[in-house]
Amino acid sequence: MDKRELRIDYFIWRGSFPSGYENLCRKAIQASGKAYSVYSEFSVGAAVLLANGEMVSGNNQENVAYPSGICAERTALFYAGATFPGVSVEALAIAACFEGKLCEKAVSPCGACRQVMSEMIRRYKQDFDVIMVGGKETVVVKASDLLPFSFAI
Ligand code: THU
Repeated sequence: MDKRELRIDYFIWRGSFPSGYENLCRKAIQASGKAYSVYSEFSVGAAVLLANGEMVSGNNQENVAYPSGICAERTALFYAGATFPGVSVEALAIAACFEGKLCEKAVSPCGACRQVMSEMIRRYKQDFDVIMVGGKETVVVKASDLLPFSFAI
C-alpha cells in the first residue's frame, strides 16, 4: 500500500484586490447585483477573464423548481464557452452579496461548478486562477486544486 498526500497553495489578499485582477473582481461584484436570487436572496456574481482579453460575467439564476436554477460560475463559464469557443480561460472571479452587501467571507464554488472548471482546464489544456472575493479577504487558488479526483474519462 502506498500513502500519497495532496497539498495545495492558496493566497490571501487583505485590503486590496489581487494585483492584475482588480477589474475582474469589480466585475464579479457588479454581476452579483443582477442575480435572479429571489428564493435564497444570496446573490452571486462571477466574471471570467479570457485569453483574448475579453471579460464576461454571469450570476445565479434561480427557479421555483430548485434544481433547475444555476450558479453564477456556471452561467459565466458557459456564456464564455458559448460566446468565445476556443478561447481559454485565464481567471474566474466570484463574489457574493447578501441583503445588498458584499459577504465578508470569500465564497467558495460548489462541486458542480468545480467539475465545470475542470472541464475548462481539460478543454483548453490550461489551468487558471480562481479568485474568491470577500469583504474581509480575497482568496486566490488554482482551479485544478479545487477538485482533486474530478471525474474524467
Ligand atoms: N450559488 C452560486 O451561484 N455559486 C456558488 O458558488 C454557491 C451557490 C448560488 C446557488 C443559489 O442560487 C444560491 O447561491 C444559494 O445557494
